[in-house]
Amino acid sequence: MCGIVGYVGPDSNQRALDVIVEGLSRLEYRGYDSAGVALVADGEIAWRKKAGKLANLRSDIEAHPMPPSTTGIGHTRWATHGGPTDQNAHPHLGGEDDKVALIHNGIVENFHVLKTELLAEGVTFRSETDTEVAAQLLARAYGETGDLTEAMRVVCNRLEGAFTLLAVHADLPGTVVAARRNSPLVIGLGDGENFLGSDVAAFIGHTKSAMEVDQDQIVTITKDSVDVVGFDGTPAEGKRFEVTWDAAQAEKGGHSSFMVKEILEQPAAINDTLLGRTNEAGELVLDEMRIDPARLAAIDEIVIVACGTAFYSGLTAKYAIEHWTRIPCAVELAHEFRYCDPVVDERTLVVSISQSGETMDTLMAVKHARELGALTISICNTHGATIPRESDAALYTHAGPEIAVASTKAFTAQIAACYVLGLYLAQLRGGSQAEAAQQVMRELHEVPAKVDTLLGSMDRVREIARFMADTRSVLFLGRHVGYPIALEGALKLKEIAYIHAEGFAAGELKHGPIALIEPGQPVFIVVPSPSTPHNLHDKVVSNIQEIRARGARTLVIAEEGDESVVPFADEVIRVPATSPLLAPLLTIVPLQVFAAELAAAKGLDVDQPRNLAKSVTVE
Ligand code: F6R
Repeated sequence: MCGIVGYVGPDSNQRALDVIVEGLSRLEYRGYDSAGVALVADGEIAWRKKAGKLANLRSDIEAHPMPPSTTGIGHTRWATHGGPTDQNAHPHLGGEDDKVALIHNGIVENFHVLKTELLAEGVTFRSETDTEVAAQLLARAYGETGDLTEAMRVVCNRLEGAFTLLAVHADLPGTVVAARRNSPLVIGLGDGENFLGSDVAAFIGHTKSAMEVDQDQIVTITKDSVDVVGFDGTPAEGKRFEVTWDAAQAEKGGHSSFMVKEILEQPAAINDTLLGRTNEAGELVLDEMRIDPARLAAIDEIVIVACGTAFYSGLTAKYAIEHWTRIPCAVELAHEFRYCDPVVDERTLVVSISQSGETMDTLMAVKHARELGALTISICNTHGATIPRESDAALYTHAGPEIAVASTKAFTAQIAACYVLGLYLAQLRGGSQAEAAQQVMRELHEVPAKVDTLLGSMDRVREIARFMADTRSVLFLGRHVGYPIALEGALKLKEIAYIHAEGFAAGELKHGPIALIEPGQPVFIVVPSPSTPHNLHDKVVSNIQEIRARGARTLVIAEEGDESVVPFADEVIRVPATSPLLAPLLTIVPLQVFAAELAAAKGLDVDQPRNLAKSVTVE
C-alpha cells in the first residue's frame, strides 16, 4: 500500500520534481487514491497534493508550477486513516513554521495516544491521518536535536505499528531521511544522485544498483552518500544488489493494459522460474536456498501461508506436492494462520508465497512460524523484499515486475516454483517419486510453449467476454486442481470487472450452490483431463449435465481432443493436453483473458481496480 519516492541530485541539475513524479508513476499501482510531493527549495518546503490519481497531481503542478530543486519526496496513497481527500494526502507538514515534510506507508498504531498528547500541548492538526502525528513529532524532535537523522530515530522509538517514513527539512537542501519497520524501503544508488523507494520500480529508469534496508533502520541520503543506522543508533551497512530487470519491463510496451501484457508474459515467467533448477544429470538443485538438505528431508508436514491469488497458487500446488512427496500439505490464509493456534514445530516446513514479498499478513505468519520453530521458505517475486529476508530461505519466481494490481503471471510462476520445491523434496526423500521427479521436470519445461500456443487462440474467449459485459453474476466450477483455478477465475472477475463471481468445488454443487442455477446463469467449468485418476473427468461431465438441465449457460474449459464435453457445452474453450497436475498452468489462462477483456469492455481501469492496491502492507 502506498508508493514512496525520495531523491537527492546534484546542484547542477535541479530536476527532483521530474524524477519523483516519474517514480510515482511507476509506483502508482501500490495505491492510487491521492498523491503528493514536497521539495526543498530556497529555505522552504514547496508542496502539492491532490486527491485522486497521479494525473490530478500532475495537472495541479502544471497549473501551479513548483520551484527547481535537488531534493524531495513523493507519495501515492492507499487510504487507511482518513478518506482520500486533498487534506489527508501526503506529504504532511510539521512544526509551527511548516519546515518538515513527511510521507508514510503503513499504520502508526499508537497514533491516538500520541495525537492526544500533542493536542494537549497545543499542536493543531490539518488532517485525519496517523501520519501527521509523526510529522509533528519529527518537527519537535528536530527542534530539540538539530539533527534530522537523530530526530527520526527519536520519533521511530515512539511509534508502534508498521511504517516507512521519508522526511525532508526546509533548512537541509540535499538530504532525505528515511526509516522502516515492517514496511518496504529500498535505496537506489546513482552516480552523483541517490534514491529511495518502496520498491526498485521507483528508480529503475535511473539506476539498477540498489541497497536493501533492514528492519528498524534509518537511512540518510545525500547526492553522494548513504548512511544507515539502527533505531538504537548503531551504525549499519546496507546490502547491495543489482536489479535484474530494466525500465522497459515496467512499461506497457504497446499493450492496452499491464494486465494484458502480463498475461502474455506467462510463458516467459514460467520458463524463467524453471530455469537453472536442474543439473546436467537432470537432478533438481536448489543451492540458492542454502538449507541443509538433511533438515529438509526430515520435515513431516508442510504448511503453505499466503493471501489472495498467492493463496490459490498454494491451494493448486498442494495436490502436486502431496502426490509427489507424500508429506501432508495444508494451505492456510496467512491472516488466519497466526490466530488459529497452529500446530507447527521444527519438523514443519512453512512455505510462504507472496509476489510482493511485503504482504503484512503473510509476513506476520512467517514470523509466527519461526517463533514456533518451523523451517520457513519464501516463494517470492521481489528480490530483497521483507518476507524472503525474514525467512530461512527464499525460492524466487522470475516473473519480472508485475504492475497490474490483479496478479496473473506471478500466479503461474508461483505454481511453477511450488512444483519445483515439491519435486525437490520428493527427490530428497528418494524412492519411486524421486525418479519420477526428473520426468515431471521435463514435462514442466514443455508447459511454457503450450501456454504460448494457448494465448494465441484466445479470440473467442475475448468475444464471449465482450458479449457478457452486462452480466451480473458468473459462477466457476472445478474439481481437484481445477477447484482452486475456479476460485482464482472468480477472484479475477470480482476484482477487475466488479461482477459477482463465485468459485465452487464441483462436487459441492449438490450440497447447496446448485440452488443458484437459473436459466441463463453463466457457469465456467474447468474440466479435468480425461487422464485424471478416479474417473474424475466423467464426474465433472455429469456436473455439467446437472447444471445444463437447470438452464445454466455452460462455458467449458477442456483439454484438446476431449469430445465428451461437447454435447453439454454452450462454449468449449480448448487447452493443450498436459498431465493433470500441471494443467492449472494452462486452464487459468482463459479465465484471466476473460476477466481482463470483460473489464475493458465495461470501460473499467483494468490495472487499477477500485479500492485495491498491489501490495497490502497493512494488516
Ligand atoms: C489478486 C491479487 C491479490 C494478491 C494478494 C497477495 O489478483 O493480486 O489477491 O495475490 O494480495 O499479494 P502478494 O502475492 O504480494 O503477497
